[in-house]
Amino acid sequence: MRGRFIVLEGIDGAGKSTLSNALTERLSAFTDVVATAEPSDGYVGDALRRAGSEDGHPLLESLLFVADRAHHTHAMEGWLEEGKTVICDRYYASTMAYQTASLGEEFRPWLREMNDKVIIRPDLTLLLDIDPDRGMGRVNSRGEKSKFEKTEYLREVRRQYLLLAEEDGFHIIDASQGPDEVLEEALVHIRGLLELI
Ligand code: TMP
Repeated sequence: MRGRFIVLEGIDGAGKSTLSNALTERLSAFTDVVATAEPSDGYVGDALRRAGSEDGHPLLESLLFVADRAHHTHAMEGWLEEGKTVICDRYYASTMAYQTASLGEEFRPWLREMNDKVIIRPDLTLLLDIDPDRGMGRVNSRGEKSKFEKTEYLREVRRQYLLLAEEDGFHIIDASQGPDEVLEEALVHIRGLLELI
């Protein structure tokens, strides 16, 4: 049987990687799990990490994020065919939210069209929603700071995520809760999907 494809989305500091680790631990008892992320660890992902440390070129970055996704999606397709549960930290909604916030609303249809050509539809997308002030607090306390992590920018990214959640039917989880509550809420959706009790 084909595996299930679960995507975690949210602004920086929302707790996606914490949730991904916790889910992997919990679900591994029942199913074969692959936890992965974008930007991927492939060569386009490497280019993005290099670009991130230079002065940003949002159009170029948009193209790279989608190119990385095409590469990464091919790998995920293989894992799904092997029956594995794939948990992906960020997918097309990250480009829709972050790059629309960088480039402007008029680029949204273009970003949508490019993504539609490369993605496979997730079985479930969980949006970890948090106010950027709180998310930023977490990011700063991890000692990481990049141009992506400015509060005002993230406010617009969050707005874009919430728009997309409505359009594409994401489940929204209040990420200001503790990690255990977030995990339990995520499991409610995932149990149904994986037909676990
Ligand atoms: P990460 O912190 O989750 O590893 O992601 C690195 C940054 O890249 C993060 O600030 C969000 C940004 N990003 C985009 O702007 N567009 C995308 O499509 C993806 C996948 C990430």
